[in-house]
Amino acid sequence: MKKTWWKEGVVYQIYPRSFKDSSGDGVGDLKGIIEKLDYLKELGVNIIWLSPIYQSPNDDNGYDISNYRRVMKEFGTEEDFNELLKEMHTRGLKLIMDLVVNHTSDEHEWFAKSRKSKDNPYRDYYIWKDGKGENLPNNWESFFSGSSWEFDEKTKQYYLHLFSKKQPDLNWENVKVRNEVYDMMKFWLDKGIDGYRMDVINFISKVPELPDGEKAEKDLYGNSFPFTANGPRVHEYLQEMNRKVLSKYDIMTVGETPGITPEIAQLYVNEDRNELNMLFQFELMDIDSGDGGKWDVTAWKLTTFKNIMYKWYDALKDKGWNSLFLNNHDQPRLVSRFGNDGEYRTQSAKMLATFIHTWQGTPYIYQGEEIAMTNVKFKNVDDYKDIEIQNMFKEKSQQGVPKDVLLKSIYAKGRDNARTPVQWDNSINAGFSKATPWIKVNSNYSEINVASALEDKNSVFYYYQKLIKLRKEHEVIVYGDIDILLLDHESIFAYTRSYNDEKLLVVLNFYEAEIEFKLEKNLEYEKAELLISNYQVKDHEFCDFLLRPYEARVYLLK
Ligand code: NOJ
Repeated sequence: MKKTWWKEGVVYQIYPRSFKDSSGDGVGDLKGIIEKLDYLKELGVNIIWLSPIYQSPNDDNGYDISNYRRVMKEFGTEEDFNELLKEMHTRGLKLIMDLVVNHTSDEHEWFAKSRKSKDNPYRDYYIWKDGKGENLPNNWESFFSGSSWEFDEKTKQYYLHLFSKKQPDLNWENVKVRNEVYDMMKFWLDKGIDGYRMDVINFISKVPELPDGEKAEKDLYGNSFPFTANGPRVHEYLQEMNRKVLSKYDIMTVGETPGITPEIAQLYVNEDRNELNMLFQFELMDIDSGDGGKWDVTAWKLTTFKNIMYKWYDALKDKGWNSLFLNNHDQPRLVSRFGNDGEYRTQSAKMLATFIHTWQGTPYIYQGEEIAMTNVKFKNVDDYKDIEIQNMFKEKSQQGVPKDVLLKSIYAKGRDNARTPVQWDNSINAGFSKATPWIKVNSNYSEINVASALEDKNSVFYYYQKLIKLRKEHEVIVYGDIDILLLDHESIFAYTRSYNDEKLLVVLNFYEAEIEFKLEKNLEYEKAELLISNYQVKDHEFCDFLLRPYEARVYLLK
C-alpha cells in the first residue's frame, strides 16, 4: 500500500458560518478561524476542510456560489484568505477547499447570461428543456422538495436544479464548462491550497435523455437518482480533471458521493484509475432511514453498522482508501445519533471517537465534535434556517403531516443540528459572537464548551488529542489490516489491526448495558499494553472482562 500524508493525517471540518465570528455581525468569518488555529493545532489535526467561503447569496449557506474566485463578504476579504492560508501553512496545517461544481447559484454571471436568450453563448452552460405540453420536462424531484425543474418566463423553458431553484445544475457535457471549472480549480491551487472536497461529484453527468424516474422501494435519493448519479460520463470527466489539474499538484481529494456502493466506489478511488483519493460514502449515514427516506427515522442495529463498515473496508483494501466520519454539516451530531447525549455523553463520545480513529481510513472531525456538542431542539420552526428543513416542513405540512411528527424528524435528522454555533465558553452567545448569531446557540453551552473542556484533563477534547497522537506514533493505526471479532455480537464492536509486527486490539461497547467480553480468538502476543481507554482500567487482563457503559479499550499487543 502506498504511504501518503492524507492517509496518515486527520481532517477537521470547519463550517465557517458557525465557527467563530470576529467582526461582530453574528456570522462566523475567516479572521475568526485564524484566531482559533492554535486551538486546532493543540488538538493535533493537520488538515482543515473549509466548507464554501466563496461569494454566495446563501440560499444554501454557500453551497450556491455566485463567484468562484471571490470570498463571501460576510466571511472577509481576499487578503484575509491569504493570511489564513499563510497562518495555516506556518503551523503545518493543510487546507482543503470545497469544490461545488454540480451547480452554481442562479446569481452567478454564467446563469444571468444563460437565461437571457436561447442563443446566448452561455445558454448551454446549464440544462434547459422545453416542457412536455403543459407538463414539466420530466418528473424528477429536487433534494430540497418539489420539482427539480423551474420555468423561466423570459425564454419559456425550464432549467434543471437537483437542489434548490437557486442552484441550477451546470451542463458538464459542455467542454467550455469543464475548462472553466478546471481553470478555477487551478486559481486556488496556485495560491497553495492542498486539495478539494468535491460536493456531490457523482452527480455531474446526467443520462442525456433525462427519462422519467420511478419511486425507489427505499426512497433515499429521489426518483432521478438512476439518471443523475454515477452517470455515463462521470469517470471520463474525473479522469480529464485529474489529467489536466489534480495530477499536477501534491494534493488530496475527497468526493462526496451519496448513494454509492463499494463496487461503484472502486471506480472512483482505485489508485490505478487516476480519479479521486477517497469518497464520503453514505451507506452508514442512511442506516437509520426507513423506506420513506431520510425523515422516516428508524432504529439502527450495530450488526448492520459493522457489516457496512467491514464491507467498505474490504472492497477498497489495497486498491483505494476510505474516509471515516460519523457527522458533518449535513448530519446530526454523532453523540446524539449513535451514542448517548444524556448521562453517558462523554463516555459515548469517546467510544465513538475510538472507533473512527482506529478503523482504517482518514478520520474526519466535524467542528464541535471534539467537545461532544449535541443535537438541538428548537420549539419554533422559524428558528431553523436550513432550506432543506424549511422546504420539507412546508411541503409535508401541506400534505397534512402534523407539526409534532415533523419536529420529531427534524430533531433527529435536521442539518441545523450540526450548524448551531461552536460553543467556545460560557459567556453570552457561547463566545461565538458579540452580536445575535445567525442561528440560535444550543442552550446547553454553559455546560458544554471549549473553555471547560480545556480545563478538564479527562475531557473529550483531550481524548481526541490522545487518539490523534497515537495515530502519529503507530503506523498500525493508519495502515493495519482489519480482522473483525464477534461479527454477530449485537452490542460489542471488536477488531484487531495488524501491520508488520504491530497488532492492535480494539474493544467497544456501543450501548449502556454492561456486557462481558471474552476473547475467543487466539492472538499471538507476549504483552498487552493499554494504549487508551475511556474508563480507568486497573489490571491489564484483557482476554475476559466486563465492559462498562460505552466502554472503549485499545490494546497494543507485542
Ligand atoms: C452537499 C452539501 O454537503 C450540502 O450541504 C449541500 O446542500 C448540497 N450538497 C448541495 O450543494
